[in-house]
Amino acid sequence: MFNLVLFGPPGSGKGTQSTNIIEKYNLIHVSTGDILRQEVANETPLGIEAKKFMDQGMLVPDEVVIGMISAKIDEHQNAEGFIFDGFPRTVAQAQALDNLLEFKNIPINIVLSLVVSEQELKSRLISRGESSGRSDDNEAVIMKRITEYHAKTSPVADYYKQLDKLVEVKGEGSVNEIFAALSNEINQVQE
Ligand code: AP5
Repeated sequence: MFNLVLFGPPGSGKGTQSTNIIEKYNLIHVSTGDILRQEVANETPLGIEAKKFMDQGMLVPDEVVIGMISAKIDEHQNAEGFIFDGFPRTVAQAQALDNLLEFKNIPINIVLSLVVSEQELKSRLISRGESSGRSDDNEAVIMKRITEYHAKTSPVADYYKQLDKLVEVKGEGSVNEIFAALSNEINQVQE
């Protein structure tokens, strides 16, 4: 089994690159953002609660997302591996993921961190907002998401660095160039 975390700030290309990676490496895509947006669209109690945080660019409480991840892993007992996109987003979530995977006896093999300048992040998200209909792709909420990232999510990189699992990859350039760089790192770990 091969498991990877695709890490990076809002707009760094996690969703875009996950699409390519799941196809090439036959992994199950676990995007907490996508799962939460589905809950919001279905107007479930979880979605109604989560929307209050998402619309303000704030993180949804840890216990909510940790429960979602556990359920998603259990749905795919025979998976060849998982790519975690947008999770873990806090050190508490990273520790919970470690506990969960240890219990199931499956490791995190690599954490790939996409490095993109703040100016590029804002410009990507503002242009996506013009067509996506995502309620969190407007300037004020984008700024809040980036602030949340620095305050609560960037310490997750240090957490994985200490475990010697973090690899930084330049997240600017063409989608194909970045995919090639990510694939190169994955191939080295799989050898
Ligand atoms: P989530 O959906 O995870 O949003 P995010 O991290 O802000 O990331 P995005 O999906 O906006 O960006 P991305 O890195 O996937 O980039 P993408 O490929 O789309 O989370 C949304 C909200 O849900 C959070 O704010 C929070 O409230 C909640 N949430 C989710 N997970 C949570 C968790 N674990 N804990 C607590 N709360 C949680 O690319 C962005 C744009 O750039 C696209 O238009 C794309 O076409 C373009 N693009 C991509 N690559 C390139 C490139 N190389 N060059 C030019 N443009 C590019």
